[in-house]
Amino acid sequence: MRMIDQTALPTRLTYVTYRTPEEVAQAIRTMVVRGAPAIGVAAAMGIALAAVRSKASRLPDLLKEMDASAALLRGTRPTAVNLFWGIDRVLNKAMNASSVRAAKEAAAAEVIAMADEDVEVNRSLGKEGAGLIRDGDTILTQCNAGALATVGYGTVLGVVRAAVEQGKLVKVLVPETRPALQGARLTAFELVHDRIACTLISDTAVGYMMSLGRVDRAIVGADRITRDGYVFNKIGTYQEAVLAKRHGIPFHSAAPKSTFDLARTHEQVTIEERGAEEVFEIRGKRIAPRGVPVANPAFDMTPPELVTSIITERGLVKTPLEENIARLMS
Ligand code: MRU
Repeated sequence: MRMIDQTALPTRLTYVTYRTPEEVAQAIRTMVVRGAPAIGVAAAMGIALAAVRSKASRLPDLLKEMDASAALLRGTRPTAVNLFWGIDRVLNKAMNASSVRAAKEAAAAEVIAMADEDVEVNRSLGKEGAGLIRDGDTILTQCNAGALATVGYGTVLGVVRAAVEQGKLVKVLVPETRPALQGARLTAFELVHDRIACTLISDTAVGYMMSLGRVDRAIVGADRITRDGYVFNKIGTYQEAVLAKRHGIPFHSAAPKSTFDLARTHEQVTIEERGAEEVFEIRGKRIAPRGVPVANPAFDMTPPELVTSIITERGLVKTPLEENIARLMS
């Protein structure tokens, strides 16, 4: 499995190769690969690697090994539902096979299909979302929901790319997204690379930019959207949504069907708490005194009343979200 090392961006564009599920799990945990759809496919590849490397001669033994790798991968990051979706898709294929060889082939074929599908889904989602964007709009985002966060093209940046492909002038306002700086490092990297107009701002500038009339629409990604219409996404999303409401700015989440979790309501989701060093350091340099207590929730939760609509590959999910999410997934 070969992928970009996202921790090295934007300074270096390097690729890493992984051969075992343990290596893939470590890459997800340390955010070498991050973004809900990307970690879903990466985890699925981890399971497929477990299958193809296995020396088991009996199907139940192979499945047991795959289950052990699945447990390891499930323990990496708790919030993005795509991780669990990706793992289950590959496991289900293997469980329905009739021999070791068929299970290995099915696991490998499924993960390749998932990777191709992801790009197609993002292209459809991009087209659906681009319809919302007017020529000259400035779009505010959060974190990175681009090609890097998916297999390719992106969800939020897929919408932006599709609008640009339609000949619209679009500008993206990119909050840096402390503490891991996915906005400054990754979204800015993608947009500069594609020559799409963008301006980097500090997270604390969001409200003021809105008050100046410099935001036409906010579009953020999602790690999980529960059946009651709550959007879990990178920390900072919730305050963006509250500010958007205050200023009468439409606020959307862009997410594929694989990010919806019909089995849960918002109370049942675990928000990942990451290491304190992400907050007391910036790129390895300490910025806070030793001994200061730190809280580092990696995600937050935006209630449905702050969300104008959700952009999916099947079109817009409008309010009331709860009712229309059920319809989308049926
Ligand atoms: O911690 P991260 O970088 O994995 O968080 C990513 C996000 O919050 C994205 O907005 C989300 O996964 C959607 S990516 C298409």
